[in-house]
Amino acid sequence: MKIGQQQFRTIWPADNDKSPGLVPEVNIIDQTRLPHTFSVVGIASVDAMAKAIREMQVRGAPLIGAAAAYGLALATLTDAGDDGLRQAATLLLSSRPTAVNLRWAVERMLGRLLSLPVERRCVVAWEEAANICDEDVILNQAIGRHGLDILQGLAAAKSGRLNILTHCNAGWLATVDWGTALAPVYTAVEAGLDVHVWVDETRPRNQGASLTAWELAQHGVAHTVITDNAGGHLMQHGQVDCVIVGADRVTRTGDVCNKIGTYLKALAAFDNDIPFYAAVPSPTIDWRISDGLRDIQIEERDADEVAMVNGLDEHGEVRSVRVIPYTSQAANPAFDVTPARLVTGIITEHGCCTPAQLKQWMPATEITV
Ligand code: MRU
Repeated sequence: MKIGQQQFRTIWPADNDKSPGLVPEVNIIDQTRLPHTFSVVGIASVDAMAKAIREMQVRGAPLIGAAAAYGLALATLTDAGDDGLRQAATLLLSSRPTAVNLRWAVERMLGRLLSLPVERRCVVAWEEAANICDEDVILNQAIGRHGLDILQGLAAAKSGRLNILTHCNAGWLATVDWGTALAPVYTAVEAGLDVHVWVDETRPRNQGASLTAWELAQHGVAHTVITDNAGGHLMQHGQVDCVIVGADRVTRTGDVCNKIGTYLKALAAFDNDIPFYAAVPSPTIDWRISDGLRDIQIEERDADEVAMVNGLDEHGEVRSVRVIPYTSQAANPAFDVTPARLVTGIITEHGCCTPAQLKQWMPATEITV
């Protein structure tokens, strides 16, 4: 996607030369500094990559997976032995618990690397991480095409602009490129459809207000930021034609775990007969589990994310201000689960299906419990 007129991905190796003595880095866009500062940071070790994931310099399920893959590639530079790789994998797996793409990427990398002689692992690790990134782009483009069919159908049934509501950031910043929930939007814009996006601000980290709004603006897509509480009202007044969200993990039965607040949007959409879609590349589907409420560990983040709000002051300085009394406690569950019964369709790279039909795409090799 574009920043200004320049094409970017969210993660890329800084240098292809892996000669002894040189420390290759992996470049990321520091998302904690957006929308006010665009900053590219070089990551030079698996520890630094785990920290970047933990501190949300990179975030969004597919990008977390890609970052973990490059984390393991970085680990091979210092210790490509079995123990070294397993330790690096454990560190990465502990960085954020909810997005299943992290485990998916780590298992794929380990499966590939541990079967090789130690001296081949470094080169193959960098290749495999690059493959994971390239595949992510292809999956998201396919989601974009299938989502476009849905949006064209909705547009044909009404007059005027198509209004899509999205929650959190499931755009290109949350993936390697294109995004999941926003891939249909970008594809629709390219196809000449008149679309407008309602962007939930997404407290407490404000991924909607700071990231989704920023990337839509960079790409010239019409959008409006709303408070998290406004969506239901807009739906009651016919101003939302469909909801599209991303996901951090989807069960094989189609329960959708996504950023906290997604469930409330699904309830409001259901009550107002508005289609609710989750856009989900297959690495985000956890085929091992069937009950999202029971089986998905929800990340409980720092209470300060609720107590404090960041923003630019009148001098253009980023400031953090407290919005709750010192005498109050805050709780911060970061994700929720939308039960399959509230989900109209799941858009994957294979096409769009109902949650009940999702199992048709379960790989034969997956373990089911
Ligand atoms: O906590 P975050 O910012 O990593 O949460 C991200 C989301 O909830 C996204 O909507 C989800 O990962 C889908 S990303 C394509």
